[in-house]
Amino acid sequence: MNSLLDKNIASNHDITPKTLLAFNESQSRSLSLSVRATALVFEDPVSRKLLQQIQRIAPSDATVLIIGETGTGKELVARHIHALSNRREKVFGALNCAALSENLIESELFGHEKGSFTGAYTSKEGWFETADKGSLFLDEVGDLPLGLQAKLLRVLQEQEVVKVGSRQPVPIDVRIIAATNVNLVEAVAAAHFRADLYYRFNVATIQLSPLRERRGDIMPLARHFLKIYGERLGCGEIKLSPSTEVTLLNYDWPGNIRELENAIHRALLVCPTNYLRPEDFKLSGIRVQEREALASTTSLENALQQLCEQTPPKLFDLVEETVIRTAFDFCERNQFQTARLLDISRNVLRHKLGLYGMLLTTKSKVLTGAEDFRNKNLVEIATKNAIPFNYEALLSNNRSSRI
Ligand SMILES: Nc1ncnc2c1ncn2[C@@H]1O[C@H](COP(=O)(O)OP(=O)(O)OP(=O)(O)O)[C@@H](O)[C@H]1O
Ligand SMILES: [Mg+2]
Repeated sequence: MNSLLDKNIASNHDITPKTLLAFNESQSRSLSLSVRATALVFEDPVSRKLLQQIQRIAPSDATVLIIGETGTGKELVARHIHALSNRREKVFGALNCAALSENLIESELFGHEKGSFTGAYTSKEGWFETADKGSLFLDEVGDLPLGLQAKLLRVLQEQEVVKVGSRQPVPIDVRIIAATNVNLVEAVAAAHFRADLYYRFNVATIQLSPLRERRGDIMPLARHFLKIYGERLGCGEIKLSPSTEVTLLNYDWPGNIRELENAIHRALLVCPTNYLRPEDFKLSGIRVQEREALASTTSLENALQQLCEQTPPKLFDLVEETVIRTAFDFCERNQFQTARLLDISRNVLRHKLGLYGMLLTTKSKVLTGAEDFRNKNLVEIATKNAIPFNYEALLSNNRSSRI
């Protein structure tokens, strides 16, 4: 197997403490603190070619644009580029542009001076300064507000930042690795993204294929995750039955590598023997969920009817908030996936999450926590009446009713 669990990984481990330190010092910021392992699996010919491209690009200082569907490994590749570059001893900062509110993002990126706005009690350096001499990963860059795109372009051109509330430029030396899962060419055509910034980013482009187009990676990745999660869960040696291999190979993996990883993890948790069987995976994905949703429509309606009888205040808001909170937790607080699951725009989602105080928090809140009476109420009604009600069904119902 062509896993890069060799010296590249060893060298990346060497830099991890430093990277971690930089991140931990600033946990209050809304920064992706991912410190995931960087074991890369590239078996399919498409992926091998891609790996060669990454190895060619990495040592240069060129700005990189990584394009790929959700879960295809954009962040992992960005970390790998940093680990193979001359900047590997310096900070790798990862910033999710979609997770920051519009009025915070400028100060997050460029820093601010004391007193420059209400609440700026001290001056603070931005992520460009923190990542000086290192790399800055700008994830979901297509979500940058237009006004900020102009400022970012200036920073990239001048190689200096000006903090909010200051006039003094600070020189910086940062390698930008940007990622997007939206088509930036279309975004430029729709005037949502500046063409000049697009050209700045698009110096070296890495296109990550969806997993369904590099099926030679499926089994090596499955074994890779089986090993990692098997060890973590203390499962002993667990194998895939032949029919499971066929099932995994034939599946389309709309959520790509992340979906495969989660599927293996989940299967290990429920598997009663040393062989993972097809039925240990919940794979037929959306189509099965929709079937289940149809079957449980009655239970959902019953639960809602019970709720109506209780006449709680603001019933519609209660149901809407419950759906959004549940979907957000279900999608592990990934805004893109949540918006896609609910079939609403990310702006609408962000607005709602802001209303519920769910933006800029890092840890999942348990939906049925005692403090959240309103959500708990909905669950309780279902449980009290022994209705087989679950939120996954609620979500699937919600989606299928829109189709
Ligand atoms: N080539 C690979 N080898 C092994 N694991 C991988 C590989 N690519 C991705 N992964 C794993 O798959 C998961 C998803 O990867 P990552 O977060 O980098 O994807 P992404 O494209 O940034 O996703 P999103 O668009 O949702 O942010 C991670 O747990 C990562 O470790
Ligand atoms: Mg990502």
